[in-house]
Amino acid sequence: MRKPVIAGNWKMYKTVGESVQTALALKPLVANANHCEVIIAPVFTALKTVVDRLDGSNIKVAGQNCSTEVEEGAHTGEIAPFMLRDVGAAYVIIGHSERRQHYSETDTMVRRKVQAAISSGLTAIMCVGESLGQRDQGTAEAVVKGQLTGGLSGLTASDLDRIIVAYEPVWAIGTGRTATPEQAQEMHAFIRRVFAEGHSRDAAQALRILYGGSVKPDNVGALMAQEDIDGALVGGASLKADSFAQIVNYRES
Ligand code: 13P
Repeated sequence: MRKPVIAGNWKMYKTVGESVQTALALKPLVANANHCEVIIAPVFTALKTVVDRLDGSNIKVAGQNCSTEVEEGAHTGEIAPFMLRDVGAAYVIIGHSERRQHYSETDTMVRRKVQAAISSGLTAIMCVGESLGQRDQGTAEAVVKGQLTGGLSGLTASDLDRIIVAYEPVWAIGTGRTATPEQAQEMHAFIRRVFAEGHSRDAAQALRILYGGSVKPDNVGALMAQEDIDGALVGGASLKADSFAQIVNYRES
């Protein structure tokens, strides 16, 4: 059984005060959510305060990015994964399409970040997903396969339980245009097959694959009812405690 994961990516939103306010509002609303792991990813500057204020709750905290470098050193503006651990984060989002698109992150950088994160004791939520043009050209699977193999090569069997994959079609992010449950299921099943080829059937069966892209309280149930959808990576609808709590407390439909 794969335990579902519902993660909120707060992107570059909220001051420290606003982050704490949302996190504290969320806490009682998801306190009984034992059916899934609940994760929020605030901006770096808010991580420590949010972790401290959530102490004792079932909400875990993620960074939204990390350095390719494992050790401290002369890397201005970077944050090493062990520094995320140091402030109490347990997860890190890596290779989000916004970073690939706007900050030129390559599969090689993504792979180095994934390896750095895992070796520092974090669980990596690695994002993959095609653009609208790529989907229209019929290359969506090839693109996603390239991102998967590029980002996840060189991992040992024991690393694999520290990997979560998030399928986020770029055309569905922030657009209100969700992939249909069937479209998402098709790609998730494909991702699991690619993972089985690259690693093992058992590892592929255990892999959690999250869907991201305009997930809302009213569509999460149908998405979660799909066999290979093991959770959601939520942007806009995670910024408000009540809508994110409704997503966490989804009922399959
Ligand atoms: P939206 O839910 O706002 O479409 O964002 C998805 C996303 O990018 C999560 O990482």
